[in-house]
Amino acid sequence: MCGIVGYLGDRPALPLLLEGLKRLEYRGYDSAGVCVRRPDGLSTCREVGKVAALEARVGKDLASFAGTEGIAHTRWATHGVPAERNAHPHRDDKSRISLVHNGIIENYQTIKTALESKGCKFESETDTEVLAMLVGELYEGDLEKAVQAALREITGAYAIAVMSVDEPGVMVVARKGSPLMVGIGLNEFVIASDPSAIVAHTQQAFALEDFTVCRLTRDGYRTSNLHNIPVTPKLMELEMKLEEIELGEFPHFMLKEIFEQPKALRNTLSGRVDMERGEIFLGGLQQIGRKLTHAKRIVFTGQGTAWHAALVAEYMMEELARIPCEVQYGSEFRYRNPIVEDHTVLVAISQSGETADTLAALEEAKQRGALTLGIVNVVGSSIARATDAGVYLRVGPEIGVASTKAFIGQVAVSAMLALYAGRRRHLSIEATGSLLTELDAIPDKIRQVTDQSEHIKSIVAKYVDLNNWLFLGRGYNYPVALEGALKIKEISYIHAEGMPAAEMKHGPIALIHDGMPCVFVAPMGSQHDKVIGNMQEVRARGGRVIVIASEGDTEIESHADEIIRVPACPEVFSPMVTTVALQLMAYHAAVLRGHDVDKPRNLAKSVTVE
Ligand code: AGP
Ligand code: GLU
Repeated sequence: MCGIVGYLGDRPALPLLLEGLKRLEYRGYDSAGVCVRRPDGLSTCREVGKVAALEARVGKDLASFAGTEGIAHTRWATHGVPAERNAHPHRDDKSRISLVHNGIIENYQTIKTALESKGCKFESETDTEVLAMLVGELYEGDLEKAVQAALREITGAYAIAVMSVDEPGVMVVARKGSPLMVGIGLNEFVIASDPSAIVAHTQQAFALEDFTVCRLTRDGYRTSNLHNIPVTPKLMELEMKLEEIELGEFPHFMLKEIFEQPKALRNTLSGRVDMERGEIFLGGLQQIGRKLTHAKRIVFTGQGTAWHAALVAEYMMEELARIPCEVQYGSEFRYRNPIVEDHTVLVAISQSGETADTLAALEEAKQRGALTLGIVNVVGSSIARATDAGVYLRVGPEIGVASTKAFIGQVAVSAMLALYAGRRRHLSIEATGSLLTELDAIPDKIRQVTDQSEHIKSIVAKYVDLNNWLFLGRGYNYPVALEGALKIKEISYIHAEGMPAAEMKHGPIALIHDGMPCVFVAPMGSQHDKVIGNMQEVRARGGRVIVIASEGDTEIESHADEIIRVPACPEVFSPMVTTVALQLMAYHAAVLRGHDVDKPRNLAKSVTVE
């Protein structure tokens, strides 16, 4: 949620800040703003709407924004409606401080009341303005010290970038809970919420740790804690390549990322599976392999799509490794006073590695003695750094707000984790090798589904005006039904509900009306005939059945109004194939409805607040 970009160097800051905001816009986009230093002060421009609206507005006064130092922000509102007065940057009431912020200041009201009693006049309803005002109140000519002092007083999550009129050539950044990276260029710095706004300028960077402040000048940088004790950041080489975050010939990032899935999955598997020896190499698990193998219980946790991947992981781990598992929303686990006995492993699943609830659940489990693993996409992200060990997805940056290739990567890594443990418990070399051979064939099977994009679009077009859909599946494809409902909900705004197919009879069947689209995820598998029974129940009540079925399954045809064929594969791996059909259904529904596929309303790519 929200994006921060900052630049300090010798190049014009404005074009670089606007370009960076556009690369971060998928993180949150209800309003945006920029502040650039002039020789005699600070120029600020803020605008409601997307970055393009800000660009148009600031373009009317370029002379005031010609400087080489600046900060910028694209907002995902938590306190105060999307409006110019609530957009960032915010300032103190002497207009000496300019500050952008990602996160939530939990105790902002208390501080605001105290500041108002001192005569401070606020213009917005945001929590962020309170922090800017507090820094201004504590400022005595040293911005770094004022920021440290202010951050000692607040509670909550923040990534901030701050400038002062009185300190040209100085920018102060800080972080706790919300991500912030510092890109180190040649006599210049680019700071941003994630690497996608940095890689065009440098590959050298470091991620700020919690409670760290960094003072940037043209001569270098200094990182310290909130008590001004120096800390040493861990430098990293950013692996992201520019072309990975460019649209190329695709109309939307989501479609690009759907079609990238065969290649992305190849990357996820590459170097990690040996079919002949029936072996799985997960370097990140070397130190803790035995603890995983002998776990008494595994808790998979995540939110949204990652939670759906966790449901698939539960089925896989129980089938392949015979280890008892459960799945918990991070937001539920963190507050339920969870029971964590000896030999419990918590696996946090997250694309961004910054989801606040998932991170908090992980910290809670760690505190209670669990071994914690991460299944994460963004290298060096907070969750990746907080776990005892983990496995990166390696699917490349995911820009579309609706998660696609990350889900496939999360399921594939979960499959490798289950096979890794199963192979060390009861799976034979042959059984493991045979399953790995099937897993290795999945990328090509995914391509056979993406080849049907136009066919899927033709089916969706018949029902796209209907506002209530059901998605149903059994076993491994029950989580896929949930994921299909989420995908179509979050980008086409159609109200959709996913559930186990058998559950329909326990109430939701009352919803079935004439012509209602009901999507069944029903590849060949253990409960195939049961799902056909559920399809008949829908058609008997006038519902329209759209089925995702295996190639060669002739029996199912007479029970469906529409059929989308997917290649046959072992049931345990079927979610990586069936889900792709539902991703394309959601994509085409959103496009046919004329919505912004990559930046759906109200959403943000990474929810770094509770
Ligand atoms: C997925 O399409 C959604 N954008 C959302 O549910 C997402 O999966 C969820 O917020 C978790 O994000 P994470 O994987 O980055 O932790
Ligand atoms: N809480 C701040 C606000 O509502 C920051 C939100 C964000 O991270 O974009 O303005």
